[in-house]
Amino acid sequence: MDDLRDKYIDLIADAADEAGLEDIRVAAVGKKGEVALKMRELGKMTPEERQVAGPALNALKDEINSALTAKKAALADAALDARLRSEWLDVTLPTRPQRRGTIHPISQVTEEVTAIFAEMGFSVAEGPRIDTDWYNFDALNIPGHHPARAEMDTFYMHRADGDNRPPHVLRTHTSPVQIRSMEATGAPTRIICPGGVYRADYDQTHTPMFHQVEGLAIDRDISMANLKWVLEEFVKSYFEVDGVDLRFRASHFPFTEPSAEVDIRCSWEGGTLKVGEGDDWLEILGSGMVHPKVLEAGGIDPAEWQGFAFGMGIDRIAMLKYGVPDLRAFFDSDLRWLRHYGFAALDVPTLHGGLSR
Ligand code: PHE
Repeated sequence: MDDLRDKYIDLIADAADEAGLEDIRVAAVGKKGEVALKMRELGKMTPEERQVAGPALNALKDEINSALTAKKAALADAALDARLRSEWLDVTLPTRPQRRGTIHPISQVTEEVTAIFAEMGFSVAEGPRIDTDWYNFDALNIPGHHPARAEMDTFYMHRADGDNRPPHVLRTHTSPVQIRSMEATGAPTRIICPGGVYRADYDQTHTPMFHQVEGLAIDRDISMANLKWVLEEFVKSYFEVDGVDLRFRASHFPFTEPSAEVDIRCSWEGGTLKVGEGDDWLEILGSGMVHPKVLEAGGIDPAEWQGFAFGMGIDRIAMLKYGVPDLRAFFDSDLRWLRHYGFAALDVPTLHGGLSR
């Protein structure tokens, strides 16, 4: 037994890797290993002999097993050390002198808007950019013959012959998400939905794809006053000033009653766009009290609940805050423009840490 012990303890000490160690384990304490063979001989012994040999064999088995475990851990440590040595790198080396990417102003502004509304208790909802005309129009009280369908210069999805699915459109506004979130959560609710929308339109302040943020608040006693306060608070926080001139203009949307459009005072002097001064106004949003038919389409009882909604142009308010006179530049992917107007990747906008710096 001592010979066995010395043999295996030496072999274990000399094992070069885990595979070698496993071979030793099988040969020593495996089912057909040397220790097992010895144990089989116990049957041929006298009871007195067995009383001595039994515990001794068990002790031998334990000793070999602990030596195996210890060696296995040592080999793993050594392997890790070797790997750390081979993967060493000098973290003090300077980075490569490449241009780093920047955060696009639209992404930055979306984060800023989200941070402000989150502080007011709004959560973020989402919906598909390709939606059925029911969500985009009918559910929002815009029936088939309604002129608003034509006014919005809708992109319709092509349909193959025999395709019986309901017609789909590129959503013309984020308002379909009003319906989707009413369906998802019922009332009361408070959500915003930032995202891309599409209309066939192209000039200095219009592009075929642009961004809106929808707002929706539904509760038992929500009024136009709540809408006005929320929007004024938003504008102050967003432009990081104490006051901005806003103009609420009576307007009409099929999905709100009453409705108002909101313009913001600005000037375009010398080709630069400045907010808060001058004699020009730029429309930034449409809003109003949610139409009872829209609440009904979203499965909410208009006798019990009411709410306000608004849809704001993210690109518009980005132009105003960051002095971008031509909307089309947002989508040109001109690297020089992106470097100039882009934001550092690690500056996440928060109300306490600062929205834009
Ligand atoms: N969906 C409207 C638009 O795109 C904006 C709006 C949203 C108006 C919600 C009222 C309420 O012009």
